[in-house]
Amino acid sequence: MDTARIGLIGAGFIGEVHLRALAFNRRADVRAIADVNERRAREMAERFHVPRTYTDVRQMLEQERLDGVIIATPDQLHREPAELAAQAGVHIMLEKPIATTVEDAEAIIAAAQRNNVKLMIGFILRFTLPYQQLRQKVVSGEIGTPTMAFGKRTVNASEARRLAGRCTVNDYLSIHDTDTILWNMGTDVESVYAQNGSFVLKEQGLNTPDYYWTMLRFRNGATAVTHSHWAMPAAFPNYPESELLMTGTRGAVHLHLAGQHLWYASDTSYEHPDVSYGFTAEDAGAFRKEDEHFTDCIIEDRQPLVTGVDGLNALKIILAADESIRTGQPVKVSLQPPQQH
Ligand SMILES: NC(=O)c1ccc[n+]([C@@H]2O[C@H](COP(=O)([O-])OP(=O)(O)OC[C@H]3O[C@@H](n4cnc5c(N)ncnc54)[C@H](O)[C@@H]3O)[C@@H](O)[C@H]2O)c1
Repeated sequence: MDTARIGLIGAGFIGEVHLRALAFNRRADVRAIADVNERRAREMAERFHVPRTYTDVRQMLEQERLDGVIIATPDQLHREPAELAAQAGVHIMLEKPIATTVEDAEAIIAAAQRNNVKLMIGFILRFTLPYQQLRQKVVSGEIGTPTMAFGKRTVNASEARRLAGRCTVNDYLSIHDTDTILWNMGTDVESVYAQNGSFVLKEQGLNTPDYYWTMLRFRNGATAVTHSHWAMPAAFPNYPESELLMTGTRGAVHLHLAGQHLWYASDTSYEHPDVSYGFTAEDAGAFRKEDEHFTDCIIEDRQPLVTGVDGLNALKIILAADESIRTGQPVKVSLQPPQQH
């Protein structure tokens, strides 16, 4: 097999980014788009030269001979298309979060396993160069044992307005840093404590918090904090201003995405590599790499770098944060070890 026949389910904001990315992917043959919004599906098909559109996922899976689907429906609507694709024997790249409940997430993972299809979760930071370089500093042992992490992601209120009520900024933005932290620090998390704040968006009549702080405590005493804020002033960019700081027993590493900035320090060296990277580029930057990884895994029969269990673990942290806010207490969590690939 030289190319993978791909279908897109959900051609909204991020579905369009995937279509842009797939247009540069020589190993992807995009056969069809399914979206309940027929006009949107047709418009995207025309722009990206996709032969057929459907308003019903079932029909697309029955009529097309697909190898894989990219699912980019709203968070609450991930389970049904994922289960249908799995039953049809089609590999799945599912946007984050894997689902909005543990029950749905486990059902998606079970459906993929039962039907022997690959399930990859869209944690884009794993395909974003500075985050990959930071990861190298961790796996090479250069920072020693991780002792602390801080992951931050802030935008203006335009996404909060677009998604009002559909999700929180913790589900939408911090889940990326949550996955990155679990990827680098492991999944031995003991408890989660969180606080959020509702000021600016509440005044604008939007029923969603402005920001979250979530603290993870690992069993070895290490801690990590994620912070996301989607009510920054209007002139602030709507592309996440992000950073990740990790310290370890032998070094520390810090990246700042808006500044395309990454440094690494130990007792004997300080490095400041060039990490310029076109995330907003015509070819959709990291999304192109993410989708290429998916088609490579299909064609070469490899396990994706990001698994359903990674999606479930990050979701459990996000749900525990909301429970902690409700109860005012740290919440115990139990995550699964990452799957081998
Ligand atoms: N990886 C990232 O950086 C990133 C960024 C944004 C969004 N996302 C995720 O992508 C997903 C989609 O988000 P979005 O912002 O693109 O949403 P959106 O509302 O812009 O698009 C969703 C699309 O799905 C369609 N849809 C709804 N129900 C459907 C169904 N049953 N079958 C087929 N199509 C259906 C809608 O008509 C719409 O076109 C969410 O899970 C979101 O969290 C990921």
